[in-house]
Amino acid sequence: MLRSNFNRLIVNLKTEGICNTLIGISRLGCQRIGIISSNTLIYKKCLGPHEPYDNLGAQRAHIRLEIFRGERELKAFGQATPKLANLPLRKWFKRGSLCLALTSSDQIFGYGWIHFAFFDGIDSVNTLRLDANEAYIGPFFIDPKFRGNRLYYALTGAVLNHLKSVGCVHNVYTASSIRNLATIKVMISSGFNVVGLVRTSGRKQVLIELTRERILEKKLTNEKN
Ligand SMILES: CC(C)(COP(=O)(O)OP(=O)(O)OC[C@H]1O[C@@H](n2cnc3c(N)ncnc32)[C@H](O)[C@@H]1OP(=O)(O)O)[C@@H](O)C(=O)NCCC(=O)NCCS
Repeated sequence: MLRSNFNRLIVNLKTEGICNTLIGISRLGCQRIGIISSNTLIYKKCLGPHEPYDNLGAQRAHIRLEIFRGERELKAFGQATPKLANLPLRKWFKRGSLCLALTSSDQIFGYGWIHFAFFDGIDSVNTLRLDANEAYIGPFFIDPKFRGNRLYYALTGAVLNHLKSVGCVHNVYTASSIRNLATIKVMISSGFNVVGLVRTSGRKQVLIELTRERILEKKLTNEKN
């Protein structure tokens, strides 16, 4: 019974993975040649020293939060969601990014990333440059079998608590497609404000700043690192 459920989970993950990859490739292709445009929201939050964030909580005692700082450490941990293997792990760890993973019985079933200095995966084509006291969080992922348990809120809270404990980070950024309703809900209720909207189509990039400070004008470029 347990084995067949597990096999079903792997098949579901593979099916979702293959579909998402195909959708991602065709979307990116259409975006590059200008047939469709992406609409990405950029969020910013100033970390308050005393603000309590949602965390895993006692009712989720079987779930642990692991922080990975290297590819070898992550691969040695046990079973990881196949989705993790699609990420540029080596590149991200090499430049100091952290992976905060939700685990249960040696299985990684969710993750959220923290990046410093810059993040070049916005919209797949845009780069957000970060100052020394800034960080970018994302991407986030929860395995389909574990979804709907408010774990995205808890993981975001855990990521923010970690950044607060680091001490030197004041501003946190993240981004999502305008169609990603879960991220809009979770980030707004975690205290983020939407500071801009980027529309990219072909080589054309339109940035709409939603604050008077025009934060993104100098930070967002379509150069790759
Ligand atoms: C997005 C994702 C992380 C949500 O995980 P989750 O654990 O199911 O989320 P939660 O249970 O914490 O729910 C968070 C909120 O989003 C809502 N939500 C979740 N999935 C949703 C969906 N597909 N459409 C609309 N709203 C959704 C929930 O209802 C909840 O809102 P509520 O407080 O009003 O009830 C997960 O579906 C996922 O990994 N998706 C693929 C990758 C992705 O989109 N990552 C985020 C951007 S990097």
